[in-house]
Amino acid sequence: MQIQGAVVVVTGAASGIGRAMARRFAADGASIVYVADLDGAGAAAVAEEIGGVGVDIDVTDEAAIVALIEQVERDHGPIDLWAGNAGIGANGGVELGDDEWNANWNVNVLAHVKACRHLVPRWTQRGSGHLLITASAAGLLTNLGTAPYAVTKHGAVALAEWIAITHGDAGVGVSCLCPQGVRTPMTEADGELAVEVVKAMGMIEPEEVAEAVSAGLANDDFLILPHPEVARYELNRAGDRGRWLAGMRKLQATLPGS
Ligand SMILES: NC(=O)c1ccc[n+]([C@@H]2O[C@H](COP(=O)([O-])OP(=O)(O)OC[C@H]3O[C@@H](n4cnc5c(N)ncnc54)[C@H](O)[C@@H]3O)[C@@H](O)[C@H]2O)c1
Repeated sequence: MQIQGAVVVVTGAASGIGRAMARRFAADGASIVYVADLDGAGAAAVAEEIGGVGVDIDVTDEAAIVALIEQVERDHGPIDLWAGNAGIGANGGVELGDDEWNANWNVNVLAHVKACRHLVPRWTQRGSGHLLITASAAGLLTNLGTAPYAVTKHGAVALAEWIAITHGDAGVGVSCLCPQGVRTPMTEADGELAVEVVKAMGMIEPEEVAEAVSAGLANDDFLILPHPEVARYELNRAGDRGRWLAGMRKLQATLPGS
């Protein structure tokens, strides 16, 4: 898809990967970029910097999503790209309570469902529109130390695939962004197993992710992998699941506190 002249919404855009994407889309010539985030002040600051529109929004609130879609289309015309990027994590496994599991499910999966509920009918009627879901390499492989994150990011990848299969022929483009470690506030904490794992695998900057997204969208790629080695890891996992699991257990055993 063409970013030049596009009407774009980026969620989770006050910080990290979302902010870098918003900046990049503005630099690539988007006609308008909506910078949406729970952190309204942060969103406003990014919007001011790039000449966009800041929106204070909780992506789990379906009424707020509908209001945003209607506001954008009333003021700037059809949404060409919805970049659903807001995401959260939780350190731990099945011992974590329902609150943590539900929060990850609501933000990392259901928020995309709620946006698609209102975007896909518009896009299929027009015969065009593009969805970008920021999932994670955790959604293709796993993420040691954080079960809710690994499980819900698999859900995000599955949803992106399902939308692409079901609505692709009606003109809905879908891309699924699956980075490994990226230097953002999400990966700034020290001493937590999930974060240590990500750091051990090598970190890249949010601007490098935005660069990969810009290229991937221009190419209409479904899978956008800012860390290209993830493609090989995925093949290894699919080719011999038992061997892959054994390798992951070895990796886990080398980690502090495992
Ligand atoms: N940093 C990494 O290593 C990494 C790797 C793979 C995938 N990701 C994914 O990239 C995306 C962005 O993460 P990041 O690393 O830039 O983290 P970040 O914490 O810098 O940014 C996440 C943003 O999402 C916003 N947000 C959280 N919940 C929200 C909600 N309910 N409604 C609206 N906004 C909300 C936060 O306020 C924050 O500004 C996430 O989906 C994350 O899972 C990150």
